[in-house]
Amino acid sequence: MIGQTRINPEVFCRQLVLFVAAVVLPAISLAQTVVRGPYLQTATPTSIIVKWRTDVAADSVVGYAPAGSAPATRSNAVATTEHEVTLSGLSPDTLYNYTIGTSSITLAGGDLNANGDGEHFFTTPPVAGTDKPTRVWIIGDSGTADANAAAVRDAYKGFTGARATDVWLMLGDNAYANGTDSQYQAAVFNMYPQMLRQVPVWSALGNHDAIDMIFSPPGAYPQIFSFPTAGEAGGIPSGSENYYSFNYGNIHFISLDSTIAANRTAGSSMWSWLASDLAANNQRWTIAFWHHPHYSKGSHDSDAEIALIEMRENALPLLESHGVDLVLAGHSHSFERSVLIDGHYGDSISLTPAMVLNGGDGRESGDGAYIKPGPAGTPNEGAVHAIVGSSGKTEAGGSLNHPVMAESMLTLGSMVLDVSGSRLDAVFLDSSGTIRDEFTIIKSPPKVVNIDIDPWSESNEIFPASSRLIPVGILGMSTAAGDSMDFDVTEINPASLRLGIGKAPINAGPWFFDADEDSQGDAVYGFNTADSGIFCGDTEVSVVGETFAGDEFVGSDAINTSDCVDEGCHP
Ligand SMILES: [Fe+2]
Repeated sequence: MIGQTRINPEVFCRQLVLFVAAVVLPAISLAQTVVRGPYLQTATPTSIIVKWRTDVAADSVVGYAPAGSAPATRSNAVATTEHEVTLSGLSPDTLYNYTIGTSSITLAGGDLNANGDGEHFFTTPPVAGTDKPTRVWIIGDSGTADANAAAVRDAYKGFTGARATDVWLMLGDNAYANGTDSQYQAAVFNMYPQMLRQVPVWSALGNHDAIDMIFSPPGAYPQIFSFPTAGEAGGIPSGSENYYSFNYGNIHFISLDSTIAANRTAGSSMWSWLASDLAANNQRWTIAFWHHPHYSKGSHDSDAEIALIEMRENALPLLESHGVDLVLAGHSHSFERSVLIDGHYGDSISLTPAMVLNGGDGRESGDGAYIKPGPAGTPNEGAVHAIVGSSGKTEAGGSLNHPVMAESMLTLGSMVLDVSGSRLDAVFLDSSGTIRDEFTIIKSPPKVVNIDIDPWSESNEIFPASSRLIPVGILGMSTAAGDSMDFDVTEINPASLRLGIGKAPINAGPWFFDADEDSQGDAVYGFNTADSGIFCGDTEVSVVGETFAGDEFVGSDAINTSDCVDEGCHP
């Protein structure tokens, strides 16, 4: 009979078994669960690393998109449980929503076409050298995986509220007692899941982190973290994840290894790298961090222990000769914070009055902020040293009376920095959310210069629209109000010049001539409009730079709609 089919029960059963084996079982085995992360590493203005762990091996796919934009994806076809995907080609200072998953399923992050799930996002750092108000959260010796660490975390969460954290530092001993993978799961991944998926975390190597590296090489620490070794986040390539540097806006961060003896002893490659890195640094602020405290009378004594002594003797002279502003360490389970000092490399009893540049409390409401009057990088203008080793526990035993300290206390807590332009405000926040210490460092503000931006107007016909150049004139020795410029435009270092959004000039220039016809020499530079973010119509544009002598300057000008009418508005 045509069109009629009889079901043979035996054949049906055999085919059902084959169907289950071919389709259902693989689908079950592919049903992954995220058991760690996602978390973010080595953020640069244009790239970031996304890492996560699954219970079952599969390929890796990260979807990402700025709010309202079409998603892009980056994938890795190799099946693994330890997923690591580097996103590149990102825009600086931009919030991206992201998802993680496989080529067949999204595991976390929601729908990027609907701006994600509101939980999985990150903001790329601004271009190095750009001023952006920056919040930094610092925890040290946080690895107790207990209610103490949770209270410190929650106190910061309450303090910062809707203010996003830009930079997150861990000062080592992040997972007690041996820095194993399971201890990291409890003390880090289960403790800070929300922070980890939104804020890239940077760390210094602690002695407890190193135990797993010694007894189960390579150990959990280097497998969990992916730090820059090739200068990809700024600074000089270190060739090691144990010590490295990175920039965030106008801050240069340096992480040093105080734990491995071969690294911290005099003459090691870490110190030659540090010398090169500091020499190349031209950010306004320099913040260094490591684990072992070079000044402490807490649960460790910096007069008695070799790691502490070697860091003081080998790191500080280099750092101070390049104008370091703040040095952070942990290991002593207390909070200790110095006055503004310089040149103190011996035991605590060797401190002399000449080494104390400002012995006040550093508070604008008290003895006044610490002032560093020279340009960025001026040697030996003093630094503040803070030991933040009480983010997971306190430990009594020390005398807490190191003579450099303005404050010493046996108190659970964390440190918060707000760096904005020429000022750095720091607080120590205890585990109940109370501010227990605060201080401010103020550096010499940049000089204000007059600039003039005149895109393609009749007066700039030497720059045809097809060249996509926008001329920016820095006007020499103007008498206009607010012009504190006291250098000649020929003293400007062209390599330092940036539009406020971080774009360098594209011409070999400058052209020196009296652009504003006031009988004073001016310097005119060309910037590319194609990717500058400059639009016609009352756009405020700022320019930052330095003289060859290191004097910083800033100027700004508005592009008026009338400036653009001759050639029409450019992109
Ligand atoms: Fe330690």
